Amino acid sequence: MRLNQLTLQNFRNYSELQLEFSPGLNLFLGPNAQGKTNLLEAINVLAMTKSHRTSQERSLIQWGKDFARVTGEVQKENQKYQLEVLLTKKGRKVKVNHLEQRRLSDYIGHLNVILFSPEDLSLIKGGPANRRRFLDMEIGQTDVRYLYESVQYQKILRQRNHFLKQAQAGKRADLLFLDVLSEQLAVAGAVMVVRRLAFLQQLGTLAEQIHTKVTGQKEELAFAYQSSLGTALTGADQEAIKGMLLTQLKEKTPAELIRGTTLAGPHRDDFLFLINGQNVQTYGSQGQQRTAILSIKLAEIEWIKEQVGEYPILLLDDVMSELDHARQFQLLETIEGKVQTFLTTTELDYLTPYLTVTPKIFRMNQGKVESEREEIDRRES
Ligand SMILES: Nc1ncnc2c1ncn2[C@@H]1O[C@H](COP(=O)(O)OP(=O)(O)OP(=O)(O)O)[C@@H](O)[C@H]1O
Ligand SMILES: [Mg+2]
Repeated sequence: MRLNQLTLQNFRNYSELQLEFSPGLNLFLGPNAQGKTNLLEAINVLAMTKSHRTSQERSLIQWGKDFARVTGEVQKENQKYQLEVLLTKKGRKVKVNHLEQRRLSDYIGHLNVILFSPEDLSLIKGGPANRRRFLDMEIGQTDVRYLYESVQYQKILRQRNHFLKQAQAGKRADLLFLDVLSEQLAVAGAVMVVRRLAFLQQLGTLAEQIHTKVTGQKEELAFAYQSSLGTALTGADQEAIKGMLLTQLKEKTPAELIRGTTLAGPHRDDFLFLINGQNVQTYGSQGQQRTAILSIKLAEIEWIKEQVGEYPILLLDDVMSELDHARQFQLLETIEGKVQTFLTTTELDYLTPYLTVTPKIFRMNQGKVESEREEIDRRES
């Protein structure tokens, strides 16, 4: 799939902007603080309805304005879609072909994106919440059922935590009601766990192959899901997982009533990155961690293709300068010619030797595009 064009209104430092993209490589070039990342963020918002940089939607709206609008035309093999995300201080509205979609799960999936930025290192270095967000975002963008159940799960979880807080504060607790919430939580939770396990298994197979290649056969990469259910998960089906979750919630209820919060379920799960069997988070060097992230991103591209039949678009924010020559080459070689790519950079010179396709270059200057070029100056050649 690809993004043919993008229109912004009051989005961050862009008052009005309309861009037409190349189906291949698009370069956003310019000094710091000109709005390069803001553009990638806008594309991410168009795909996911959310920013990867902030959970505060207001900060996406241009200072002093009431709303921000991002629209774009997505081209799939046999179809075109017009997507729109409108952000106001009261909330957001999303449209597909000018029709408002009330459910997130009816909107997400029209445009699949993979984003790769230096902050992705937090996937390894950061806390479990980073990895859960990764699972939820990536699975959710191809799997409507997962998206629906995870939204349900969060709703039930909030209700259940509210109930436990009240009980903790000494209010009378109707334990039958707690049972109902536990049952609902276990049902949605089991769907999530089953799909997360399948995702990690599929992504793991792809990432392992890629990582072996990227590291010249030196390293083997694997994922290990971490859940309060432990090894009991191995081979268990959805019904069995639901049963186990429910049992665990019942066992933990006395502790939950004291602590005022839900103590088991996928909202507390995590996963590990293992290189040659060792946890990268604890033992990996900075370079190994970066390479593991690169392998995961490349694996995700293939995973989306397997799931939806088309390649996603790829957003690369400032990542080239962080990779060594071999890895830069690997990355570009993998994507060139098959994945529409949007790449931000402050310098063009160091990139030029790696490019085998002609990029479309957008020179950014303070929220405006100064020039668009289809050519680069190949002085060396
Ligand atoms: N809500 C907003 N309204 C107006 N301007 C904003 C808003 N949010 C951010 N900005 C401006 O956007 C600019 C940052 O843009 P961005 O992060 O895209 O820069 P960049 O080109 O990626 O820079 P770098 O090369 O340093 O990564 C900031 O200078 C900031 O002033
Ligand atoms: Mg930036």
